[in-house]
Amino acid sequence: MSTSLLRVGIVGSGGIAAQHAIGWNAYPQYATIAALAEVDTARAEAFSLTHTGGSAAVYPSLEAMLAADAVDVVDICLPHHLHTEAVITAAKAGKAILCEKPLCTSLADARAIKAAVEENGVTLMSAHNQVFQPSLIEARRLMASGVIGKPFLMRSIETFRNQSYDPFSYAQLPPSGPRGWRTDVKSAGGGELLDTGYHSTYRLLALAGADKPVEVTGFLSRFHLADWPTEDTGQVTIRFASGAVGEILTSWAFDVDGARQFEVSGSLGALGGGATFVSHQIYGWQNANRREIPGTHTFTAEIGQFIKVVREGASNPADLDMAVRVLQVIKAAYLSAKLGQTVSLPDDPTADPVPGKGPATPWDVDVLDDVLL
Ligand SMILES: NC(=O)c1ccc[n+]([C@@H]2O[C@H](COP(=O)([O-])OP(=O)(O)OC[C@H]3O[C@@H](n4cnc5c(N)ncnc54)[C@H](O)[C@@H]3O)[C@@H](O)[C@H]2O)c1
Repeated sequence: MSTSLLRVGIVGSGGIAAQHAIGWNAYPQYATIAALAEVDTARAEAFSLTHTGGSAAVYPSLEAMLAADAVDVVDICLPHHLHTEAVITAAKAGKAILCEKPLCTSLADARAIKAAVEENGVTLMSAHNQVFQPSLIEARRLMASGVIGKPFLMRSIETFRNQSYDPFSYAQLPPSGPRGWRTDVKSAGGGELLDTGYHSTYRLLALAGADKPVEVTGFLSRFHLADWPTEDTGQVTIRFASGAVGEILTSWAFDVDGARQFEVSGSLGALGGGATFVSHQIYGWQNANRREIPGTHTFTAEIGQFIKVVREGASNPADLDMAVRVLQVIKAAYLSAKLGQTVSLPDDPTADPVPGKGPATPWDVDVLDDVLL
């Protein structure tokens, strides 16, 4: 195990970088924010003052930061279309990498990232912060204990009414708003499903554990953001190799009652939960057993795990294959919505989804001719 302090370089000094800075600053015995790379250097200077008392050096680009040999870890907090190049540049420099979601915006880019990470033997973790939500960890513990039996249905929900991108809030559109890049599919790489939907997708895969997604059907809508170029809402149905069915509901148009983020129904019982609670109910019980579970600053928990991965080789809950699998499911949902048909997922997460049904599963049902009439 290394005993030296990890020198961290954060790339991009925007909204999420501030959350990461809180996380890094929680582990002063292991890491220090040594440098910031940011095109808007005034923004980075202010960020450095706020989060490091001005001690983090500011560079105008990732390349300049790497040339100064200022860091051991690169933390990528950039707009989506800039992730691939930044990851590959950091990998070639031999740095450990934490990258915000989505890892990248295409599976071709994912293949290039995989090649660079493997050739240079570097550690990469994707910033799947919500897998560190204590309520989700408790739900997964309950599932692993077998208390609700074999999962039949797993649902992951990530919804909110998004006011920032309201068609009447033009202050957020380019060139004035700092989130301008999100309003252009060329830089965002997709709509709500690739952005906020990334959280619901990795949460569903976390609930599914070792069960592999094999088939995807996607359904997209634009309910609220009338001027938006693509979807503000995604519904995705996924069949897993076991035959269990997954559902992703993700939206910037609406929220759900009760702030639920996940539901699982199994052979013996069901569970559900949100950011600060979990409830479960064995079939036959009159009432659900609901427990409040305090939330946590998930970015701090994520960075704590990343430090352990880098220093101790601890298990990586969002390694390259997991990050790419999330993207593959989302890309499959986009293809499915475009074609109006189900698509299947190759075993290799970097491989493109293929139109058509996936392999047969134990719980498939043959549609009888009689019921079609
Ligand atoms: N996990 C979450 O809950 C969550 C929430 C918000 C954003 N994010 C993710 O974080 C990432 C960044 O989003 P954000 O909301 O912080 O964006 P932002 O627009 O607030 O910040 C991006 C920053 O990158 C800088 N930048 C742009 N090009 C650059 C370059 N070539 N080199 C260096 N700096 C450059 C911009 O000047 C800006 O300061 C995205 O991937 C987004 O999806 C995750």
